[in-house]
Amino acid sequence: MAANKKLLVLPGDGIGPEVMDEVKRMIDWLNGQRRVTFDIDERLVGGSAIDAEGAPLSDATVERAQGADATLLGAVGGPKWDDLPFEQKPERGLLRLRKEMELFANLRPAICFDALISASTLKPEVVSGLDIMIVRELTGGIYFGHPRGIEDLPDGQRQGINTQVYTTNEIRRVAAVAFELARKRQSRVCSSEKANVMESGVLWRQEVTKLHGEVYEDVALTHMYADNAAMQLVRNPRQFDVIVTDNLFGDILSDEASMLTGSLGMLPSASLGAADSSGRRKALYEPVHGSAPDIAGQGKANPIAMVMSFAMCLRYSFDMTEDADLVENAVTKILGEGCRTGDIAGLGDKVLSTREMGEAIRKAMAELAA
Ligand code: IPM
Ligand code: MG
Repeated sequence: MAANKKLLVLPGDGIGPEVMDEVKRMIDWLNGQRRVTFDIDERLVGGSAIDAEGAPLSDATVERAQGADATLLGAVGGPKWDDLPFEQKPERGLLRLRKEMELFANLRPAICFDALISASTLKPEVVSGLDIMIVRELTGGIYFGHPRGIEDLPDGQRQGINTQVYTTNEIRRVAAVAFELARKRQSRVCSSEKANVMESGVLWRQEVTKLHGEVYEDVALTHMYADNAAMQLVRNPRQFDVIVTDNLFGDILSDEASMLTGSLGMLPSASLGAADSSGRRKALYEPVHGSAPDIAGQGKANPIAMVMSFAMCLRYSFDMTEDADLVENAVTKILGEGCRTGDIAGLGDKVLSTREMGEAIRKAMAELAA
């Protein structure tokens, strides 16, 4: 009997708890079915943590995350906490978690399911068969660079400052993740920056090129300015296999890529740290979508991004390939059968609630596993 897997669950705010509920039910089902069992530890993050614990992420929760085999996060933020000082906002909890766990590689796959081709705002012939992996640097760049802040100028104006900064190692380690992933896919990496205007972009391009020459010459490497990449993503997204880019460009390009798949409610993500001596990586799994306060608590949210994030957790943290496949195949199956939440429904489609969607996926899992 394999040891229990320690999973930290952080539902967060808005639709976070609703979509996480569907994953918790899936875990219950897996626990009942399989030899491996999950030990679940649940804590607060974001606005709900501010309300209950006075900070968006408590030290105790960071400690639990450090000790867990993997962490699942729903979403953080909401209008209730919008007026808080910057350092106390819900988002700071998420950023602290990424930073303290050194989760420098954020994997954001954008896959267009055949059944959802019509849900994309792009033409079917542009998105059909789409399968891109965006690898976003997650613990550096302008999100964390110093100096930062808002300061008063002598003439009475104010000045806002953020700093884009990258070191050789920060670039190399995330590029290595992209190259390794590419080897298991179509062996193509497109590295994206703004080397035409930013020194950090010049360094990025040089270091990626150097690493490629040293270790990954078997992978095809191209470079693209980030503005062009944004345009190419809607012009001809299938030209890409793996895109590797910095924190801010990755934030933007991954939101853009999500719409190729039909809805932000479909995109999972994995955030990984460096491998330890046993090959294990610290890891956080979260949907790319936010807390969607406008629909929170109404059972309207699409749980698929959260469910697919859990599938990534099974695959990358626990090597449970069969179970990860089972979850993903169940999602493909129910989409093929026409199951839709509001965000991916077409005219005349029956719209399922969050719970109904979760139930449909679990039922499909049971059928596929039988
Ligand atoms: C994301 C989100 C976060 C980010 C926010 C919530 C801080 O947009 O994960 O893409 O900007 O990284
Ligand atoms: Mg974002």
